[in-house]
This record gives sequence, C-alpha cells and structure tokens, in this order.
Amino acid sequence: MEKNISVAIDGPAAAGKSTVAKKVASILGFTYIDTGAMYRAFTYAVIKAGLDPQSEAQSNSLIPSVSIELAEGGKVFCNGEDVTRAIREPLVSGNVSYIASYKEIRLAMVDMQRKMAESKSVVMDGRDIGTYVLPKASVKIFQIASVETRAERRFKENQEKGIPTTYEEVVADVKKRDYIDSHRAFAPLSQAEDAVALDTSNLTIEESVEAVLKIIADKTGLEVPCH
Ligand code: DC
Repeated sequence: MEKNISVAIDGPAAAGKSTVAKKVASILGFTYIDTGAMYRAFTYAVIKAGLDPQSEAQSNSLIPSVSIELAEGGKVFCNGEDVTRAIREPLVSGNVSYIASYKEIRLAMVDMQRKMAESKSVVMDGRDIGTYVLPKASVKIFQIASVETRAERRFKENQEKGIPTTYEEVVADVKKRDYIDSHRAFAPLSQAEDAVALDTSNLTIEESVEAVLKIIADKTGLEVPCH
C-alpha cells in the first residue's frame, strides 16, 4: 500500500466539500487542507491593504508580503492575524473569485499546497486539486449538488455563524462564483478524468462522509477505522 495517501475533493462552491473533507480527515487521522481558505485569506489581505481585488496588478503586488497559515483546529491566519471568521464575510466571498483567477497568485498558493501534501496523508479540497495541484492524488472525488441545495446549505451556515446575508444574495453569489470559477483561463473548475463524481443533493452529511470513505477504501485498500 502507498505510504502517504492524498485525497483530492473538488467541486463547485458550497457543495459541502469542506464539511465532508474535515470529517473524513478526522476519521482517517489525515491532515485537512482547505485551499479555498487560502484564496480567501489572500483576498482579505488585498482588501485590508486598501487595494482593488478586481485589479490583477494591485493584487499581485502583495504576493511577496502575504503569509498564510492553516493552523490545527481549522484556524486561518493571514500575516499573523486570525482571519478565520473575516474570510467568510460577504466582502471576501464576493471578491475571492477575482483573486482566484490570477495566475501568479494561483501559482504561489499551489506551491504552498503541494508542500503541505508532500510528507503526510492529506484530504485537500478545492477546485483544481485533482486536475492541477495533485494530479497523482491517490483518490479524486468531484463533489456536486444542485444550486438550490448549495445555496440553502450556505444560507443556513451563514445564519448559524451570524453572518448577515439574504437567501437571494447567497443564490446570486453561488451562481456568480460557479461562472467565474469554471470560466477562468488558468486551472478552471473541472472534473478530472479519473475522478469519481459524487452528487450530495439528496445525501445527509453523514451519508456523504460514508460515501467518500467507501470511495477511499475501494481505491486504496485502506481500512476505515470504527467511527
Ligand atoms: O471553497 P471556497 O468557497 O472557500 O473557495 C473560495 C474561492 O476560491 C472560490 O471562488 C474558488 C476559489 N478556489 C479556487 O479557485 N481553487 C481552489 N483550489 C480553491 C478555491
């Protein structure tokens, strides 16, 4: 059996990837890497610096000075500041797709992501993990769900976190991000040829977790611990 196992989970915004990936990583004792949080943290840094996220040149200028850390327990730090909550606010969500479409910024993030996966077993979620970041990932999953299901889930999540948004705003944000993420020139959102598609529209979180664990067990021969 392979020494380190890498699980790539890609799919559109709010398809439940991070919830499922986090639980799967915890059950298997793997490290969870939320690559979307990295693009969000960079977006936060651009806005905080008073720069325009829609300007590629202005955003790129921060590449040498931004440091992003994904800490244990899911906390996200940007230049030492805890931005875990701030990166979920509408101002960041509404601008992150621009930042994620800039090639130089993507290359810097991808470099960090590959290093993180080098020496340990990981579950990494994003848009381009199976197609670009880890093309040799042991397991590739393309997790999808209908726009309505995704918007409902994200709306509920925002309410629970006290983030003020309307359902209509969430639907518009999900659709806008789907469009930008799948139409950008460099490493757009697409299903890797060797990825297994998983539609979670009618699955609970637990059912989705079990489905992912089964795919991992089938592909790698790994024995899933009791959970
Ligand atoms: O998964 P998320 O909603 O936190 O991702 C935030 C944005 O970052 C989303 O618009 C797509 C982009 N992204 C990306 O382009 N590539 C990744 N590997 C992860 C996220």
